[in-house]
Amino acid sequence: PWSAPRAAGIIAEHTHLEGATLPILHALQETFGYVDEGAVPLIADALNLSRAEIHGCITFYHDFRAHPAGRHEVKLCRAEACQAMGSDRLHAEILSRLGTGWHGTTSDGNATVEPVYCLGLCANGPAALVDGEPIAHLTADALDAALSEARA
Ligand code: FES
Repeated sequence: PWSAPRAAGIIAEHTHLEGATLPILHALQETFGYVDEGAVPLIADALNLSRAEIHGCITFYHDFRAHPAGRHEVKLCRAEACQAMGSDRLHAEILSRLGTGWHGTTSDGNATVEPVYCLGLCANGPAALVDGEPIAHLTADALDAALSEARA
């Protein structure tokens, strides 16, 4: 879990670096799984930057999460062969069912959705991974089923 003293220690280890913001954000995300809002003023003070600059950096790079990830990771293939199988429309339906967007987490914390670009299942698209398990011929119902199974 997030700990301000631990975060401060991590930040202090990196302040000597040129362009320390990114290495600090990476280190925090690696340690806590996300970059807590409470880290922003700590980083800003340590590097003499504004909070807005730190925020900008967190939102610009999709690698960084501002909230803990969901318990399950859903990766949806957005590459060409899956697109040809209607993945765009399917993804819109899935995201609306889950009530979140790309890189987002459902409000119950059950799942985080990330895009991927080709899973090597092109002949059996649309394709997805749920917690690393491949799903071919994905439908919104199949994803619901996989997630409720994963929840148990
Ligand atoms: Fe989706 Fe290859 S394009 S698995």
